[in-house]
Amino acid sequence: MENELKNIEKIVIKNFQDDLITWFKEEQRELPWRKDQDPYKVWVSEIMLQQTRVDTVIPYFNRFIQWFPTINDLANANEDKVLKAWEGLGYYSRVRNLHSAVKEVSERYNGQVPNTPKEISNLKGVGPYTAGAILSIAYGIPEPAVDGNVMRVLSRILSIWEDIAKPSTRKVFESAVRSLISHEEPSNFNQALMELGALICTPTSPSCLLCPVRDHCHAFHEGVETELPIKSKKNAQRAVELAAVIVKDEHGKILIHKRPETGLLANLWEFPNVELQQHFVVERSQIAESFQETLDINIKLEKGIGQIEHIFSHLIWNIRVYTGSIISNKPEGNDWKWVSPAEMEDYAFPVSYHKILKLYNDYTKN
Ligand code: ADE
Repeated sequence: MENELKNIEKIVIKNFQDDLITWFKEEQRELPWRKDQDPYKVWVSEIMLQQTRVDTVIPYFNRFIQWFPTINDLANANEDKVLKAWEGLGYYSRVRNLHSAVKEVSERYNGQVPNTPKEISNLKGVGPYTAGAILSIAYGIPEPAVDGNVMRVLSRILSIWEDIAKPSTRKVFESAVRSLISHEEPSNFNQALMELGALICTPTSPSCLLCPVRDHCHAFHEGVETELPIKSKKNAQRAVELAAVIVKDEHGKILIHKRPETGLLANLWEFPNVELQQHFVVERSQIAESFQETLDINIKLEKGIGQIEHIFSHLIWNIRVYTGSIISNKPEGNDWKWVSPAEMEDYAFPVSYHKILKLYNDYTKN
């Protein structure tokens, strides 16, 4: 009897795999990283797709592969160019980790992305999701690749009510995927789960009537598909007040500063800026003092030209923007540069600084 039950379970799982994979083969989107199974391209795409939507990723992916077609091209590229390729995508530690991991693959593995869970997981920035995605999509190895979308899909199909915001919950879903994954077609299976999450089993109004695995879906049968997944709320973002200054020299060059090599937006460039005490009316002279203390530059603030806001997952920056001039002691060192508008193209800036530049360009036009 026990054996017969096991056989029934196998048939149910096989039917689920077939329904899912058949649908995927017919309905999958044509995406640039699906043209071949090059592990490097799969890797780049999966890192870009963390926290970023497919539509946004496509042009970045194409340009990245054009600039750095192989592991060795990326390994040998200079960091400023690599950051420039990522400019605007956010979460820049993703690309710094990718760059150092690719150097390791180039040196230690002769440019071949390793194909064992142990070796691949040891690479910088390659967590369980990325490892599973590369192993299954590029190498056909039946490993789970569980991200937030896959958790949403499976929480509904299997009626799993654990909080997907808790890091420990991913293991529950990995274990579910290990029981369900097709050993014949692990790449299609994992990608089908991702695709189902993107096209059908969407966060707020899933298209259950079009779903290829509706018959297998516990949440649909119980009418609770919109109650799942359970996801507790993150803490609210902290607001930070900043003042930034645009300083031009007599040749029309603008002063930029490199951020520290660790922490938020590490190694990106920005206009000189300082954090302000919140909830105080801040005098210009106080801001200027703050520039002197934190950046060691003697600045006179001239016009206030506006304010921009930038929202991160954990922070909100409110940046007041001023024009200004250097009074004495031109800043020196590798962290400072005077650049023309054309030369700015060679440096990677956070999106917030593009907003500042736009504010400034609008101001100078009027
Ligand atoms: N989201 C995460 N990985 C993906 C992939 N390989 N294709 C489409 N969407 C994805």
